[in-house]
Amino acid sequence: MRILLLGSGGRESALAWKISQSPKVEKLYIAPGNGGTGAYGENIALSPLDFPAIEKTVADLGIDMIVVGNEDPLVAGITDYFEGKDVLVVGPTKAGAELEGSKDVAKAFMTRHEIPTARYRSFTADTLDEGMKFLETLKAPYVLKADGLAAGKGVLIIDSLDKAKEALAEMLGGMFGASSATVVIEEFLSGIECSVFVLTDGNGNYRILPVAKDYKRVGEGDTGLNTGGMGAVSPVPFADETFMKKVEERIILPTIRGLIEEKRIYRGFIFLGLINVDGEPMVIEYNVRMGDPETEAVMPRISSDIVPLLEATAKGDLGNLPLEHSPLAAATVIAVSAGYPEAYEKGKTITGIDAVDESVIFHAGTKTDGNSVVTSGGRVLAVTSLAATLTEALEKSYRSLSRISFDGMAFRRDIGRDVTSEK
Ligand code: AMP
Ligand code: GLY
Repeated sequence: MRILLLGSGGRESALAWKISQSPKVEKLYIAPGNGGTGAYGENIALSPLDFPAIEKTVADLGIDMIVVGNEDPLVAGITDYFEGKDVLVVGPTKAGAELEGSKDVAKAFMTRHEIPTARYRSFTADTLDEGMKFLETLKAPYVLKADGLAAGKGVLIIDSLDKAKEALAEMLGGMFGASSATVVIEEFLSGIECSVFVLTDGNGNYRILPVAKDYKRVGEGDTGLNTGGMGAVSPVPFADETFMKKVEERIILPTIRGLIEEKRIYRGFIFLGLINVDGEPMVIEYNVRMGDPETEAVMPRISSDIVPLLEATAKGDLGNLPLEHSPLAAATVIAVSAGYPEAYEKGKTITGIDAVDESVIFHAGTKTDGNSVVTSGGRVLAVTSLAATLTEALEKSYRSLSRISFDGMAFRRDIGRDVTSEK
C-alpha cells in the first residue's frame, strides 16, 4: 500500500514511525514532514491545505490512502473533496469535523445526545448583553471559548467577573478574528484531565486506543502559559476499568451513535478531551484527530499493525480487527526552544540525538540543514521511552534528554509526577 501522511509535527513523526513498521506499506510519503520524518518515508513539499495539489500528487505517486494528521484540512473538507475519487482517506468529513471546528456545534451535539459536559451558552455580538448577564449567574473562574479554530489559543479562563466581561466583549469584537464571532461561555469544571482516542469507521464499529494525559502548561507544577503540550504519559492510572466503562457507555457510544444519526460521516480518530470530576468523566472538548504530544506516547503502546486498522477505518468496516495495547508504560517529554510559547529563535543546531539508545526521538519542530538537524519550531523534539512502569519510562526519557542539546533547549522536569505519585 502507498500512503500519504499529511502534517509536520511530533504527532506525524509518531504516526509515520508506526505506519512505517507495517509490512503492508510499500511506500510512505509525509507532506510536508520535518527533519526527522525522512527516516520513515519520503518527505514531499506539499501543503496539507492545497487539495488540488494533493490530488495531483495522489495521481502521480499512485497513493492508495491519505492519513490526515492535523485538524485544519479536515475542518476545510479534505475528506469530502476526495469522496468518490480513487483514494481512501482516514479522517472525518467536514460535517464530522465540526465537532472540533465549532465549539458551539460540539456543545449542542453533546446536549442533544445527553453526553456529560459543562453547562454552557453561546453568544454573538448581537447578544453581548445577555452574555454579560449569563456571566453574572456563574461562579469564578469563568471559561470563555472562541467557537472556531484558534490554534489552541481560543480558551480563556478568567478569575474576575469584570475581566471576564471585558474579555467577552473583546472576543466578540474580533480578538480571534472570525473564530470568536461566537463565544461559548461554560461552567468551570474541576478535576484531572485525560485524553481518550477512538478509531471509528462510520458504521458503529470502534476501537479504543491507549489512554494518555498531556501537560499543557509551560511551567513545572502546571504553571505559566498554555502550550501545544510539554509532555505526555500513557497509561493514565486513574483511567481504570471503572472509569473507562463510564467513558464508553456515557461518552463514546452516544458520540458514535449521534454522528451516525446526524449523518456526520466519520471515519477516523475521535479525540475526547475528558475531565474526571470526582470519578465522573465529562467532555471538555472534542478533537477530530490524534493529540500532540499524546500520539508520541500512544503509538508506541499499540502492539497491533496500525495500517490494516487505518485501511479498514477508511473503508468503513473495522470488522473484528484487533487493536492491542502494550502492557508497557510510555513517557514523552518535549524539548522546546527558549521563549516558547512566546517568541523564540530558530535554526539552532541539535546535537546528541544519535547518542540516545533507550528512547525514541520523534522530531517536531526540526528541519535538515546540510548534514545537520536544526530547530525550526517551538516544540522541537518529543523524547519517548517505554518501560515496565511509568516511573522508569520517565527516568529513561530524562536520561536521554541529558544527552541532547541545542542552544536554549528547555523542558519540564515534572512530567508524569502527578500521576506517578498517585499510586
Ligand atoms: P480546550 O482548548 O477546549 O482543550 O481548552 C483548553 C484547556 O482549558 C483544557 O485543556 C482545560 O484545561 C481548560 N478548560 C476548558 N474548558 C474547561 C472547563 N469547562 N472547566 C475547566 N477547565 C476547562
Ligand atoms: N494535546 C492536545 C491537543 O493535541 O490538542
